[in-house]
Amino acid sequence: MKVLIACEYSGIVRNAFAKKGHDAWSCDILPTESKGNHIQGDVLEHLDKGWDMMIAHPPCTYLSNAGARFLYPKGKLNEDRYKLGLKAKEFFMALYNAPINKICVENPTSSKVFDLPKHTQTIQPYEYGHTIQKRTCLWLKNLPQLKPTNIVKEKQSTKIAGNWFNKGGKDRQKNRSKFFEGIANAMADQWG
Ligand SMILES: C[S@@+](CC[C@H](N)C(=O)[O-])C[C@H]1O[C@@H](n2cnc3c(N)ncnc32)[C@H](O)[C@@H]1O
Repeated sequence: MKVLIACEYSGIVRNAFAKKGHDAWSCDILPTESKGNHIQGDVLEHLDKGWDMMIAHPPCTYLSNAGARFLYPKGKLNEDRYKLGLKAKEFFMALYNAPINKICVENPTSSKVFDLPKHTQTIQPYEYGHTIQKRTCLWLKNLPQLKPTNIVKEKQSTKIAGNWFNKGGKDRQKNRSKFFEGIANAMADQWG
């Protein structure tokens, strides 16, 4: 299968599909961090290249529910932030409506104000062999719901101060957005 991993610089999902023999490509405006097929550029210019499947990880900074406190500081809507959220929604929807048969778009729970389509399922990294609790939504088209592969009992919330998720440094945002290998392998095994 020809598989596009949209908005991925890490190569984690791309490599999981490539290992299974698929013609898998990641695409991001950033260069890839690991060896493999990568398109560096705007993914919207590459959606019509005959892909059989796309797994997309669009930016969530302005859409996510976690950012709602910035959207309503002191209870009043921040217009600039709202406009950025609408732009992010437009990008999300362009991926969701891409001319590709099998689609999975991944994002955290979004703020209600942006009225995204209803997600198909929610998953957790701790259902796929990681000790992390981080609610993740999947919007699926022509793909079955992903099944847990290895449920871990001891889990760490992303809200604990000073843990891996909350470490500072210049790559903070980038590191926090990296995908989970256990989920990537489940996608390649169950959908590939
Ligand atoms: C939430 S992060 C996802 C990272 C991914 N989970 C990974 O492991 O590499 C969103 C990514 O979207 C990329 N991005 C934003 N706009 C893009 C565009 N128009 N075309 C391609 N990538 C884009 C960003 O550079 C960022 O790496």
